[in-house]
Amino acid sequence: MATSSSPLLLGFNIDHIINIRQARFTPYPDVLETIQAVEAAGADAITLHLREDRRHIQDADVYLVREHCKTRMNLEMAATEEMTRIASEILPDDVCVVPEKREELTTEGGLDVIGQFDRIQKTTLVLNNKNIRVSLFIEPNIEHIRRVPDIGAPVIELHTGSYANLEGAAQQRELERIEQAAAFADDLGIQVNAGHGLDNKNTYAIAAIPQMKELNIGHYLVARAVFVGIEQAVQEMKQVMAEARE
Ligand code: PXP
Repeated sequence: MATSSSPLLLGFNIDHIINIRQARFTPYPDVLETIQAVEAAGADAITLHLREDRRHIQDADVYLVREHCKTRMNLEMAATEEMTRIASEILPDDVCVVPEKREELTTEGGLDVIGQFDRIQKTTLVLNNKNIRVSLFIEPNIEHIRRVPDIGAPVIELHTGSYANLEGAAQQRELERIEQAAAFADDLGIQVNAGHGLDNKNTYAIAAIPQMKELNIGHYLVARAVFVGIEQAVQEMKQVMAEARE
């Protein structure tokens, strides 16, 4: 059980709501209605991924979220010149730098902070200079975390996708990797967030990690909201997170 008294924040990833709009190119679900509902439900941040292929979030959405977001805007993006330029113009509160492959269903794996060191550092420095808080989406890998201070990012988001896909003892081993990674990063003074594949069952153990500061969750919350509404979906998740911190 976590001993930390700091509140654990919930970033609501709205990509899957906007996926519904893009499936038919309708004006609905409307992005403004989306962020208003998500914030009214109690989410602490609006997370959205502007992908190179624009498969869900569009450029205009990013501008609208910047203008109307009352919590924090967390823009997920690849470390490309185009995205760095857009983020520098829009000035989200946070940028989470993610790896991106065109053919993937969703973000697979974390950033290669060793192989792509120069590219990620360049993006991070530009965004740091704009006072955007940069987070690196990485695997719970100590060797990668060790390089984060040299890159200059104050935050990491630990990829929980493998943990979410595993079961039993294998899942427990992956959880231990995440716990060790969180403690290691925290010792280096890096803020630790997590996300990907989190749901009503697997979130508790991640939320209970004392160094954890923010969870970014999308797919499960949107799927749950279909049946109970956005407000209840967020409240249920916040309840799981609060119980894990008791
Ligand atoms: N964090 C990051 C960096 C992501 O790329 C995603 C998926 O867009 C999420 C969190 C949310 O993952 P999920 O939709 O599985 O909850």
